[in-house]
Amino acid sequence: MTTALVPGSFDPFHNGHLEVVEAASALFEQVVVAPVPNPQKAGSMFDLGEREAMIAESTGHLRNVRIEAFGGLTVRAADAVGAAVVVKGVRSVADFDNEMQMAHMNFHLSGVRTVLLPTSPRWSYVASTLVREITRLGGDVSDLVPPPVAARLVALAAR
Ligand code: PNS
Repeated sequence: MTTALVPGSFDPFHNGHLEVVEAASALFEQVVVAPVPNPQKAGSMFDLGEREAMIAESTGHLRNVRIEAFGGLTVRAADAVGAAVVVKGVRSVADFDNEMQMAHMNFHLSGVRTVLLPTSPRWSYVASTLVREITRLGGDVSDLVPPPVAARLVALAAR
């Protein structure tokens, strides 16, 4: 049985992420989605527990998907859940460069392989950074995120 780990910041989880998880769910027998801290990104909107809950609610229709938040290295998370592959979405050439570097580094660290899945053009411009910025400035992103995430963003904006 092949288990795939889908790691990411997911702050917050958006429709592009959901598309990648749905594709991984169709390709692999077991999928573990892991919100993990990205040390290169500051100013988080949701803590890991909240991200875990939002992803669980957004992927409830996928029977072979479970959520496990991790701190530390992605390769350790992959090892802990017995994942043979790491799956990441790619929106652009810029993403590809970044993902290739991480894929090679993770392979160097543990031998884990990475499968890169292109995001469909429908969501290729969606980024969590922009979702956070637009929400903080009072804009509406409810059509770019799954309903459980949209509900939390609305609650956050109302505070
Ligand atoms: O959603 P993102 O921000 O593109 O995901 C990047 C993430 C969180 C997967 C990456 O930053 C990561 O793996 N962080 C955990 C720490 C780690 O393993 N760093 C070495 C990466 S080669």
